[in-house]
Amino acid sequence: MAQIDSGDGFETLAIHAGQEADPSTGAVVPPIYQVSTYKQDGVGGVRGGRRSAANHGGVASGPGRWVEGYEYSRTANPTRGSLEECLAALEGGARALAFASGMAAEDCLVRTVCRPGDHVLIPHDAYGGTYRLFDKVLAAWGLTYHPVPVSDADAVRAAAAAHAPRLIWVETPTNPLLSIADIGALAQVARAAGALLAVDNTFASPYLQQPLALGADVVVHSTTKYLGGHSDVVGGALVTGDAELAARLAFAQNAVGSAGGPFDAWLTLRGVKTLGVRMDRHCANAAQVAAMLANHPAVARVCYPGLPDHPGHEVAAKQMRGFGGMVSFRHAGGADAAVATCGRTRLFTLGESLGGVESLIEHPARMTHASVAGSPLEVPADLVRLSVGIENIDDLLEDLRVALA
Ligand SMILES: Cc1ncc(COP(=O)(O)O)c(C=O)c1O
Repeated sequence: MAQIDSGDGFETLAIHAGQEADPSTGAVVPPIYQVSTYKQDGVGGVRGGRRSAANHGGVASGPGRWVEGYEYSRTANPTRGSLEECLAALEGGARALAFASGMAAEDCLVRTVCRPGDHVLIPHDAYGGTYRLFDKVLAAWGLTYHPVPVSDADAVRAAAAAHAPRLIWVETPTNPLLSIADIGALAQVARAAGALLAVDNTFASPYLQQPLALGADVVVHSTTKYLGGHSDVVGGALVTGDAELAARLAFAQNAVGSAGGPFDAWLTLRGVKTLGVRMDRHCANAAQVAAMLANHPAVARVCYPGLPDHPGHEVAAKQMRGFGGMVSFRHAGGADAAVATCGRTRLFTLGESLGGVESLIEHPARMTHASVAGSPLEVPADLVRLSVGIENIDDLLEDLRVALA
């Protein structure tokens, strides 16, 4: 049976952490425990808990109180537990929790660490759904927010002094403009302000960037994207190094019922095994796409942190292993030309989402970021966002050249 060791590297953990052979059959892949409830050996005699309750399979009966074993799959499920243990290992956290979507994870985090009346700093460039959550849902719950340019640590420090936030929410690289925030610098800002720092690590994935090691308190993922990697499952995750906070998050997740199902966990886990090799190819392909676009007359500006003239290039080089697979660009011909380009590709599929093996193209202002129209997070109408997949790079470059011609 493969057993992980404390010195194992990322790729080894991706394949083995939380995924030891099934004890009853020897199956080398964790089975899909498609089950809602579990037989108990006498009242309260729950079975299972083959891993530590701190990280897997515990049954939350209240914040901070964990009992080993399984009683009901909203609370704990072995397949979900395998994914959670793997994600915790990959992010270097004490514990991970898997959710039905990235938005469910975000909502759980904010409602757990904040109370009505609290204030949150959010990025002025972020996924539109995150803004919508703060602006349309959590504002009605009594939370106030203030958008800040998270690539400017001094601006975040000033906003923290002015607003005394409970939480500082960061995306890096940001969606869709690929801005870079200095996670280590913002961790210091958060600590000095008595705030928690949450980092949405969806664009980078833990293979390229590990925010907890840089001082973040919680990592947020839409596992729908690079972690799942195949555009066939929606999910989310929270990872933290703080076991007490993790217990509070697990309590809220169980109380609200926002966990993902076992088949979704299994699909995500299967995707995670190849995360490293996929990310290497995503990065290599995106670098070539960005270089081609940077020299194309129809392109006014390329947003890719791997380009030396990107304002966040040095910070990205310091805190990321690679620059990722997402590239945005502003079309020199304006909004109509940007929309037309999105409709002219052959291999880049016109669609929302990102991080799958297949390349996608979209127009953020009318698609993923339509919900930020008229807000401080509004995105340029001439912006095109690419999720560069792992197809043959010559085919991808040719596809874009034809669409831009
Ligand atoms: C950066 C980022 N965070 C969070 C989310 C939300 O995740 P989900 O769609 O899985 O709910 C998305 C979705 O696109 C995203 O791009």
